[in-house]
Amino acid sequence: MPVVARLDEVPAMGKKLIQIAGQEILLVNLKGTIYAVENECPHQGAPMSGALLKDTYLSCPRHGYRFELKDGSCKEHPECRLKTWPVRVEDNEIIVDLA
Ligand code: FES
Repeated sequence: MPVVARLDEVPAMGKKLIQIAGQEILLVNLKGTIYAVENECPHQGAPMSGALLKDTYLSCPRHGYRFELKDGSCKEHPECRLKTWPVRVEDNEIIVDLA
């Protein structure tokens, strides 16, 4: 599994956009827990790098759909799900399981 970034590169309550294997992945630091989600909103493709991070979810900048960070689900629009990947942090390294 690839190391995609260092932990100290993702600010607290912030995000970092990375590219790996032709895929844009957004790393999100929610109170010290790192999540990895796709950058493209499953609704109409807005970049989630501009999303608002609140409580346990990301709110899309275009129409405000709210995606839970833990599994990408959207309560109001269950047909839309943001892709997520498992993340592991070892020492200062963020490892994303892209399988
Ligand atoms: S493009 Fe994200 S909610 Fe519409």
